[in-house]
Amino acid sequence: MKQHRPIHVVLLACLAASGAGCTEGPPSPAASADVWEDTSVADGSSPDVGFREDTSEALPPVDHLLPPPEETGGALTTDASNWRFLELAEAVPLERIQRFSQGRELFTADWEVAPSGRPVIDGLGPLFNEVSCVGCHPSTGRPPTLGADGAVHPGLLLRLVRPAAAGTGDAGALAAPALADPVLGAQFQPRAVAGVPAEGVARWSDVADGDRVSPRFDVEVDEAYGALHPDTHAVGRASPHLVGLGLLDLVADEVILEAADPDDSDGDGISGRVHRLEDGQIGRFGWKALQPSLRAQSAMAFSQDIGITTPDFPEESCTGAQQACLAAESGGAPEVDEEGMAALVEYQRYLGVPAARREVARERLENGARHFEQAGCATCHRPKLTTPELPEMPLLSQQTFYAFTDLLLHDMGPALADPVGEGDASGSEWRTPPLWGLGLVEELDPTARYLHDGRAATLHEAILWHGGEAEASRRYVETLESDDLQDLLAFLRSL
Ligand code: HEC
Ligand code: HEC
Repeated sequence: MKQHRPIHVVLLACLAASGAGCTEGPPSPAASADVWEDTSVADGSSPDVGFREDTSEALPPVDHLLPPPEETGGALTTDASNWRFLELAEAVPLERIQRFSQGRELFTADWEVAPSGRPVIDGLGPLFNEVSCVGCHPSTGRPPTLGADGAVHPGLLLRLVRPAAAGTGDAGALAAPALADPVLGAQFQPRAVAGVPAEGVARWSDVADGDRVSPRFDVEVDEAYGALHPDTHAVGRASPHLVGLGLLDLVADEVILEAADPDDSDGDGISGRVHRLEDGQIGRFGWKALQPSLRAQSAMAFSQDIGITTPDFPEESCTGAQQACLAAESGGAPEVDEEGMAALVEYQRYLGVPAARREVARERLENGARHFEQAGCATCHRPKLTTPELPEMPLLSQQTFYAFTDLLLHDMGPALADPVGEGDASGSEWRTPPLWGLGLVEELDPTARYLHDGRAATLHEAILWHGGEAEASRRYVETLESDDLQDLLAFLRSL
């Protein structure tokens, strides 16, 4: 027997949560019983007579929030049996596969110290965080981040940021009003090739904030480099799972701009804004949308995370104070050439998007989706985006996909804030992360962690950290009955 919670329960909870982000008033005309009947039949489930009987108060429709599994990632959607995160989308045409395979080699290779006799994959470091892309972006989605004993795993890297007003110096590779550390640069690199001192050791510890704890990071700098600048802060960035990057990369700027509401002119308490980078491009990748494209993100990763030079970053990521780093043997100039970069981008562009999952009853997913909308989640975690017409890339052209992001920066409040911003994003502003694939991440690794520094051990905890513009959303979730909360989480896990 299906159970449906009538809409007035939802609205009461919504009011209790102080209104903002709640959709009140009469349901839109589309909420007719007809639509609901059609949906359940199209889905293959049997028409539900009991449901029709109690629709005198029609529930708002949620079809727009439930990705049809086969359309989750448009033409890149992969079949449920191929779930893992590093699969080629089945629809990729034969002529693209060679490029894809070449890119996969660069993504999965363990880079070697130069000269290694294998010039295609040598040039590691001199300073680095991990020896491969796949080390931080494994097929299971997210790598280990916070070790039990205070160890910081490579899957969580530390940015070194210092307020611009407090000193002078070289901003390092990351363009930003926030400055890098003058000696160690913009990112802490705890590993190095032989003959070059690694930058030191990072540890994390719990800091209590009421009944919640978040990680604080401390670095013990190697004596070769002295100490961190007194104004430098080490802030954590967890490796996200990679899904549908080609689609996100190709969404037109206008689509992102159109969703922005920097002055909250619609008065819903939510004021997303684009991250305008210094060169005028719109940032869209990374927790603070610091990188404008898949190409830029990949080149930066090679430079900062693995120590590989590219046409984009032809110099090794050594600061002027790191002489041994500057003097170390190089693996080529650059170590990855234009063709390699193009292949690496191609690889990520054509990775399959795991199909949305339908493992729990449709009415539970619908109930969860309804609460997702009532809580205002969908204002930031915008369900659908569409790519423009791309004659050169027919598979990616005009694809509608369900990433659940607006690619905008939002002020998430003081509890989630870093002490210093990056780029034009303040300490408390974060880009809405896509939600697709999170259920699969959790399933493949129940110890996976969430949010920018891995502070949340569960999806529920991740929601409870929401503040700032998402304060009303969090409060709405705090008032949910246990069944409704479980349905909301089931909905998240289905994406
Ligand atoms: C040491 C761990 C590490 C390595 C190695 C690494 N990454 Fe990442 N990756 C991260 C982290 C952390 C982020 C988030 C960065 C941020 O917020 O600024 C990220 C973000 C990304 C993103 C953006 C995802 C999104 O949803 O915005 C892409 C794409 C990416 N990495 C690709 C790569 C590629 C390609 C390589 C190899 C050249 C690579 N990464 C190597 C840790 C790593
Ligand atoms: C104001 C915009 C906004 C609203 C509203 C919002 N979120 Fe978020 N969400 C974000 C941002 C930004 C982050 C990243 C914050 C961080 O990492 O510090 C995030 C992170 C998350 C994460 C963790 C993602 C990950 O990759 O680790 C989940 C899960 C999530 N949100 C679910 C929800 C749900 C469910 C709701 C509604 C109850 C909601 N969000 C409402 C902006 C929003």
